[in-house]
Amino acid sequence: METGVSTGTAQRIGVPREIFPGEKRVATVPEVVEKLIKLGFKVAVESGAGALANFSDDTYRAAGAEVIEGAANLWSTSDIVFKVRGPTTEEVALMHEGQTLISFIWPAQNPELMQQLTARKVTVLAIDSLPRTLSRAQKMDALTSQAGVAGYRAVIEAANAFGRFFNGQITAAGKVPPAKVFIAGAGVAGLAAIGTAASLGAIVRANDTRAEVADQVVSLGGEFVKVDYEEEGSGGGGYAKVMSEGFQQAQRAMYAKQAKEVDIIITTALIPGKPAPKLITAEMVQSMKPGSVIVDMAAEQGGNCELTEPGQAVVKYGVTIVGYTDLVSRLSRQSSTLYSTNLFRLTEELCKTKDGVINVNMEDDAIRGLTVTKEGNITWPPPAPKLPAVAPAAAAKPAAPPAAKKGGHGHGAASEPMAGSKLAIMFGVAAALFWFVGANAPAAFLGHFTVFVLACFVGYMVVWNVTPALHTPLMSVTNAISSIIAIGALVQIAPPQGTTDWIRWLALAGIVLTTINMFGGFAVTQRMLAMFRK
Ligand code: NAI
Repeated sequence: METGVSTGTAQRIGVPREIFPGEKRVATVPEVVEKLIKLGFKVAVESGAGALANFSDDTYRAAGAEVIEGAANLWSTSDIVFKVRGPTTEEVALMHEGQTLISFIWPAQNPELMQQLTARKVTVLAIDSLPRTLSRAQKMDALTSQAGVAGYRAVIEAANAFGRFFNGQITAAGKVPPAKVFIAGAGVAGLAAIGTAASLGAIVRANDTRAEVADQVVSLGGEFVKVDYEEEGSGGGGYAKVMSEGFQQAQRAMYAKQAKEVDIIITTALIPGKPAPKLITAEMVQSMKPGSVIVDMAAEQGGNCELTEPGQAVVKYGVTIVGYTDLVSRLSRQSSTLYSTNLFRLTEELCKTKDGVINVNMEDDAIRGLTVTKEGNITWPPPAPKLPAVAPAAAAKPAAPPAAKKGGHGHGAASEPMAGSKLAIMFGVAAALFWFVGANAPAAFLGHFTVFVLACFVGYMVVWNVTPALHTPLMSVTNAISSIIAIGALVQIAPPQGTTDWIRWLALAGIVLTTINMFGGFAVTQRMLAMFRK
């Protein structure tokens, strides 16, 4: 079923100027305009729409867009509208029947807006309602792309307010210790902040209620600080839940200790549909060293710190508390580019025919999840997905703490112990099989078989103890080592008399191919390992 007013001919995508105070992003950048035109669409941009993200009207014109004066003209002539912030009442009034809007909407928080939109008989795709766990949906995941920008910017704001270097230095003018940064909440924004602070040379620690993020924290150069209380923090879908009073007490004790030690705290902790958890108390702020900085990324949702003032940077007890709610807009060129690429990927999904006409296919899980109103009918919330992208049992399992202690960074849910009776049966069957092979196989075979079994065991133990993040380089190095079959080819190339020519040619081909595999494998491994080194 097609949606839009000019069915059959190329539809027009309109990009209005964002009017929300302080919003500097634009929903489409010139680079993406070109791509949309290649998909068959016509693109119109309101004059000045990209100005605050440093994209002039001329760059849009050069990319093939028509630049239109005035919001009313733009809205009335567009079949599809791309926006960043949800429309205001005035903007909704400019919409017409059959129009499609793609934007942030937050339907749960904005029931009034949803009513206004249905009254206009429009179709609305809320980019915030994308089913993020579908791996196919990742390219359209604007929440992730924007949170990454915010996490980066939070560190830059912290560095700006902090009076010292991030990295440790030894110079003729004296020794400077590295800054200590503590990140509360290691979701998308927290992980971006960890990577940025670590790359600036700080000592980074992080905590999250979801134990499964511990490996990700370590792989980005941080140290995961655990709360001394056993409780699973995952509330499903990769999100957190409200923790028990006992956990919160233990967490407060740990945060109080960190507050005394670190120079910078960046808080990112959020729980969907709930106010942000209060993690940093006034006493903790008071206990921090003078000149310390707190960046509260949860300020808009009530803040993780008791003393945060949303939208402001304030100094309390000598500590600068940054509560900016426009971190993403402070990097508007970057965030607009990423956001508009997310929207372009979504448009590709909506227009598989590449003829400039979208098809809001409600059979498609990702599109179904995004569509919050369809031609005037509320279609939110969507039904539960037919097939979970991640097996819920595996996703919900807590990271096994013993494994985490043993290897420094454990293997999480994969290492859950097997039931005792099952294990006994498996051992019994294996022992019977070995006895059968030992009693019946020829002696020559037994020697090789023993080596094979031991090799499997050693291989298993080695791989099991490798950090999951290093599994890809491990695969490529084993691939390179497996080229040992080159020895077989070498034996065949100069064998005893009687070998036919074609065997030699085959052996030569074998040597050439395995050489590429061997040297290529080591080269690729080196490059991959280099990505993990700082
Ligand atoms: P978010 O913005 O809702 O929350 C931020 C972080 O705060 C989360 O990691 C949460 O566990 C943590 N948090 C909540 N309460 C806390 C508390 N009391 N103390 C400490 N930390 C607390 O989450 P975000 O960043 O939008 O995504 C969360 C996770 O979802 C990501 O880590 C990611 O793994 C997952 N995700 C998965 C996707 C996929 O499977 N394709 C796509 C996007 C996200």
